[in-house]
Amino acid sequence: MRVGIIGAGGIGHMHARAVAASDTATLAGVFDLDPARAQSLAQASATVAFPSPRDLFGAVDGVVIASPNRTHADYAHEAIGSGLSVLCEKPMAVSLAQATGMRTLAADAPGICAMGFNYRYLHVIREARRLLDEGTLGHVLHVDVAFKRASALTRKHFTWRDSAEERLTSGALGDLGVHLIDLLHFLFHRPVDLAACQVALRTKVARKGSRAVEVDDHTFVSGRLRTGPSFTLTASKASQPHETGLTLALTGTRGDLTHDSKDGPVLQLRTGVDWEQIKLLGTGRLEDPPGEVTGWADSFLDQLHDWTRAVAAAPGPRTLADFEDGHQAQQVLQDLLRIGEDG
Ligand SMILES: NC(=O)c1ccc[n+]([C@@H]2O[C@H](COP(=O)([O-])OP(=O)(O)OC[C@H]3O[C@@H](n4cnc5c(N)ncnc54)[C@H](O)[C@@H]3O)[C@@H](O)[C@H]2O)c1
Repeated sequence: MRVGIIGAGGIGHMHARAVAASDTATLAGVFDLDPARAQSLAQASATVAFPSPRDLFGAVDGVVIASPNRTHADYAHEAIGSGLSVLCEKPMAVSLAQATGMRTLAADAPGICAMGFNYRYLHVIREARRLLDEGTLGHVLHVDVAFKRASALTRKHFTWRDSAEERLTSGALGDLGVHLIDLLHFLFHRPVDLAACQVALRTKVARKGSRAVEVDDHTFVSGRLRTGPSFTLTASKASQPHETGLTLALTGTRGDLTHDSKDGPVLQLRTGVDWEQIKLLGTGRLEDPPGEVTGWADSFLDQLHDWTRAVAAAPGPRTLADFEDGHQAQQVLQDLLRIGEDG
């Protein structure tokens, strides 16, 4: 499959690495609003930098949208209108209205419209889902999930992410929490019950330079999945470096399961008195950048394979998130932010 990438930033580079390591896709070109950035990624990936999105769309079968969130909806419309398959980075858009338009378009799209919820592909998440589907933990009563980073402490200058301009998607809940919202939906096959949620939105780093930070950088949600377990969710960009990472703890009627990304790809399972350690040895095909959870880079490769196999209509199970999943996460995101601001 000929793949194009829009947006030659951090994640555009990661997608390019995944395509280079894949045997089902080739990188046919890139586009970035900044020609120097496009050129730099094209050179590093031995491909072409196209002068416009339209030119890129004419040379590919599918496009990865890895540009800023505010651009996702327009690029998705153009790409789908050109008959292409799409892999859109998270969050789907900057408003629920945009996400709804994308979902409507995807319903009749000729190609496969997928969302970049790559955390679904982490080995620990897939193993947790297998154990859940097999009923190993019994009936799950509570889930505690957290994704913590230190970027609000380490990035000292004010950027667009700190401004209210993209308030729905650039704070801790919008940027990081949306992965956790999708993981709750993915693991339990149930939507968040918004009527049962309480939200504490905090801005711990209140100023950057002379400007006030206008988005949340540490958010806590207490809630419930519809006809499912209660949950607590923490999304933070203002955690101390030693606290950072992804953690998951499930409490069931027959057992408990915990994971802390600082321990690597390992799950702790307890169905009796003792904890059993389950080591998940991935193939480690792509090296993770410093500070990312183990298997993060490989998750992009596995996601790419799933997408290209879906485009080729290959049989087999799918982990791939679609635009329906993207829309569902966006709805929850918008409502949780409203609950947090009202409360
Ligand atoms: N899945 C993940 O784990 C993950 C992690 C980080 C970011 N992301 C998502 O990836 C996307 C990009 O994030 P990033 O961290 O790479 O950002 P970035 O700022 O590093 O890169 C964005 C790039 O897009 C380019 N750009 C800006 N406006 C554009 C436009 N209109 N058309 C084309 N290119 C344009 C910029 O020049 C820049 O090169 C965001 O949607 C973000 O939420 C996903």
